[in-house]
Amino acid sequence: MTAFASKIKETALLVEDALNAFLSQTDGPLGRVVNAMRHSALDGGKRLRPFLVIAVADMFEAPRVRSVRAGCAVEMIHCYSLIHDDLPAMDDSDLRRGRPSVHKEFDEATAILAGDALLTQAFEILAESETHPSAEVRVALALELARASGKAGMVGGQMIDIYAEQKNFDLDGIRQLQELKTGALIRVSTLMGGIIAEASEAEIAALTAYAEDLGLAFQIVDDLLDAFGDVEALGKPVGQDADMDKATFVKLLGAEGARDQAKELVESAQARLDGFGQRAEALKGAATFVFERKN
Ligand code: IPE
Ligand code: IPE
Ligand code: MG
Ligand code: MG
Ligand code: MG
Repeated sequence: MTAFASKIKETALLVEDALNAFLSQTDGPLGRVVNAMRHSALDGGKRLRPFLVIAVADMFEAPRVRSVRAGCAVEMIHCYSLIHDDLPAMDDSDLRRGRPSVHKEFDEATAILAGDALLTQAFEILAESETHPSAEVRVALALELARASGKAGMVGGQMIDIYAEQKNFDLDGIRQLQELKTGALIRVSTLMGGIIAEASEAEIAALTAYAEDLGLAFQIVDDLLDAFGDVEALGKPVGQDADMDKATFVKLLGAEGARDQAKELVESAQARLDGFGQRAEALKGAATFVFERKN
């Protein structure tokens, strides 16, 4: 196993345990929504976003208990976005992380509510004093996560993505769409790591530049996997972007052009971290992982 593979595995286990505790099972009618949240959030996913929060906080030796909690908050937003993305009204995907998507395992109403509850709980976690003793830091975390998740972030990107099905986007348009849809949550993950660690403005600027390149590369690879990946390995449907005529780099640049673009972005992301020396090894590994991943 590479050093990066064991590092992401180690942090994913911490995140899994923390999510399991945050989503403890309950009896009665509300047990159903909790079970749907657990179906979405537990035992699956690469946990890339929490990895970024934790790896950045680790660079500054911030306590793990704080970065794991913030990582869980971002992962909950991510899982909520996946539940809603899979709904019939959006991408209509039946498979997620190798399992039936939430509306298939439960029903659409439960899926909507499970997404809503994950979204809400993310902010509950950030507001709790265990996340950071400074209320100012907790507010900054909530503010940035809210900005990255809402109309100027992931939700806005999802809106453009759906609208784009009827429009012809140029490269700049697709870049903007992807920066919001996927880039915003990846960017805020490194930002939250920096906020928790109370990193300097210059350090946060370098980390953000890294994350912006990484986020774009990440979505280009997602689009390549949708076009050329394998359902078994991916754990989600393939070929949907072409069927729905989604605006993707693959559509505009072709496979080779998209892959070149992703590679360039990954190398650029890594170069942004040169000032951190050895401390940035985990983040550089994450960039290679994003390019080489098969799921
Ligand atoms: C999938 O994200 C959705 C996109 C933003 C492209 P991931 O590929 O990180 O999904 P998981 O968390 O590993 O399942
Ligand atoms: C959705 O992008 C990203 C989200 C905000 C959930 P995709 O629709 O391409 O994600 P996948 O391929 O279904 O994971
Ligand atoms: Mg989608
Ligand atoms: Mg989708
Ligand atoms: Mg996709």
